[in-house]
Formats: sequence, structure tokens, C-alpha cells
Amino acid sequence: MHTGNRQLFLQNLAQTSDEPLLLEVVEAAGCWLTDPEGKRYLDLISGISVSSLGHRRPEIVEAVKAQSDRYFHLMVYGELVQSPQIELAQALQKVLPPELNSFYFVNSGSEAAEGAMKLAKRFTGRTGFVAQTDAYHGSTQGALSLMSNEYYSNAFKPLLPEVLFIRQNDISAISNLPRNLAAVVIELIQAERGCMSATQEFAKAIRDFCTQTGALLVIDEIQTGMGRTGSMFAFEQYGIIPDILLLGKALGGGLPMGAFVANRELMMSLSQQPVLGHITTFGGNALCCAAAEQAVKITASELEQFRVAAKEQLFRRLLTEAGLNHITGKGLLLAAHTPSAEACKKIIRYCLNEGLFTDWFLYNPAALRIAPPLCISEEEIAFACKIIAQGLKII
Ligand SMILES: Cc1ncc(COP(=O)(O)O)c(C=O)c1O
Repeated sequence: MHTGNRQLFLQNLAQTSDEPLLLEVVEAAGCWLTDPEGKRYLDLISGISVSSLGHRRPEIVEAVKAQSDRYFHLMVYGELVQSPQIELAQALQKVLPPELNSFYFVNSGSEAAEGAMKLAKRFTGRTGFVAQTDAYHGSTQGALSLMSNEYYSNAFKPLLPEVLFIRQNDISAISNLPRNLAAVVIELIQAERGCMSATQEFAKAIRDFCTQTGALLVIDEIQTGMGRTGSMFAFEQYGIIPDILLLGKALGGGLPMGAFVANRELMMSLSQQPVLGHITTFGGNALCCAAAEQAVKITASELEQFRVAAKEQLFRRLLTEAGLNHITGKGLLLAAHTPSAEACKKIIRYCLNEGLFTDWFLYNPAALRIAPPLCISEEEIAFACKIIAQGLKII
């Protein structure tokens, strides 16, 4: 590793913790990252569920190059007719239920959560929200208000005042929720809690509660979407449809891209009283939309070939054989629970040394993150699990 660059990174770039991973990457392709010395690392986390099609998928590179010959940025979102936005909306429409037919393209997952919260307040005329305990919907102050974890949120209070929390799968708590909420915001698999799945009953009960009380159901598929759990979106596996869908991460095929999606009638309320209910300069950026359109089309057409369910089973079998028999999550959004946060950290360091790039979870530092590109091969899965098995022996 170039120690010079490492020092410049530490000196010049804002730091987010006192223990950054400090791996320098000079190139990434498919499932592999390369450092300045030419050492290769298998990417087991896809930049936190972003590079689901692998790094620099050729069709995405080509689409970005072709768009860069036309234009980058023209105007703030919502004024000019830009074909990359329209084509992305149409590609998404093909993989979504017909009622989710209006797309607001933004820059990140957090901004999608912000936009959805504002839309819910504006449309319902109500102000209260319910989120799940240990949910993560983003780091801006609205999204942060949906976070129950006080370690991460206390320093930034006051946040939005009217947010209540419900534990995932606590069906009995639903009937005690206020009946005048603007929205209930959920993730069907709580990724940062360590990939904890909602039961079918809980998801349906939340959907029914929202329908009965007029609260909007916001489903955050920023991490679960784009094929990661085996279907294009996790909500398909639950037989429910959100009023507002949040997308981000893998949506952009590696470029920064978020979206909140709703029915046209609902979405229209952001354009009236006041007009410009949500403003973004770069939202729907042409290069990002060109990349995202390809990401949506490729994911939809190749999802079956990726054999996400079979790869999940292979990970489960090999990790269990290695001694990690508590594995949660679905598809290629998995958490392998280790004995402790300390042990997990040691395994992560060992893996990095051996050419395997993995990480832990925000609320679950004792769990290893298994969220590779969906195109990972069976040989690569075997390689990853072998290193993890060796890592387990040194803790
Ligand atoms: C479920 C979920 N929602 C929202 C976000 C926020 O997305 P971003 O970091 O793009 O703002 C994240 C990011 O990790 C996430 O996992």
C-alpha cells in the first residue's frame, strides 16, 4: 500500500471514525478490487449493496460514455425534458406494479427518505411517523429522526419530534399505534440490524393498518431492492405494495442515484401548495440516469441467471461448515453472526489480509456482512468461505 496516500487521506479527508479500513483501490472490475501493488481482493459487500452487477459492468460504462457525449447537467430537477430520466422511469415502470408510476429521482438514499417523509406530510396533512427500532434510513436530519438508536442520534437532537418506534414482527403493538400518522416507514429485511427479516404476518398487518388508518406505507428498498434478495424488490415476496417506495444504492449501477416512487396522484401533491415541494439541483442527473437505466434492465433480464437463492444456500452451507451457524437474511443480503464484535473485527482484518473484502453492520458489529455482487461465481463463494473459515480459527 502507498503509505503516502494513506497519510494524505487521513490528513485531508474528513474522517468518519478512528478506524477506517484504509485499503487503497486503484481499479475495480466485476467482483474484484485491485490495490496499488496489484493485490486483488474479492468484494463481499458491493460497496454496501451498491455494485450488485459487479464493478464497471460494460453496458453501464458504455451508457455513461454515450451520455457524456450528449450532456451532463442541464437544469435543476423537474424543468427540462431529459430522455435519460424518461427512459429510466420507463424501465422501472416495467418492473413495478402499475400503481407505482411516478418517479422522483434524487441523489441518495437519505434524500429519497427525506422526500418521502415530506410527501407523506404534504399528502396526508398529518405529521407523525412510525419507524422500526434499529432502522437505518439515512443520515440527514429527517431520516435520522427515524433512527431509534440513541448512540448514533443523541448528539444531533432535537430531531423531528413526532416519531414513534415499533419492533419488527411485534404484531400486537400495531393496534396501539396512533391512527393519525402521516406514514409508517419499514424495511422488510432490516439490513443494518444484521439482515433481520419481517414475517409475512407482520408485513401484511402493517399494510392493513396503513390502509385502514390512511397512513402511507413507505417501504425502504434502498438495500433490499434491485434483485439483492432474489426478486427485483423484496415487497414482491410479501404480497404487499407500498404507497411510497424508496430506492437507492444499486439503482445507479455504481453512480449516485436515489428515488422515491409513488402513485401519480399522490406525487402530484409535491407540486402544489407550495410549488417546488422538493427541490434538487442534481437529482435525475443525466449520467446517473443513463447508468441506472442499464442497471434496471440488466438486473431484470439476468436475475434468474444470477441464481441468487442457490448462492444463498451455498453461502449458508459453507459458512455453517466453517462454524458460523447463525446466518440471517435473504438472498445475497446475509449476516453471518460471529461470537463477538471483537472476533468479527479480527476476522474482517484477517480476510482483508488474505484478499477478501468484508465488513460488519451498523447496529450489529458482531456480524459479518455477506452482500457480494449478484454475479459472484460459485468458485468465488467457495474462496470467500474458505478464508472466513481460516479467519475463524485465529479468533
Ligand atoms: C436501508 C437504507 N436506507 C437508506 C440508506 C441511506 O442511503 P444513502 O447512504 O445513499 O443516503 C441506507 C444506507 O446505508 C440504507 O441501508
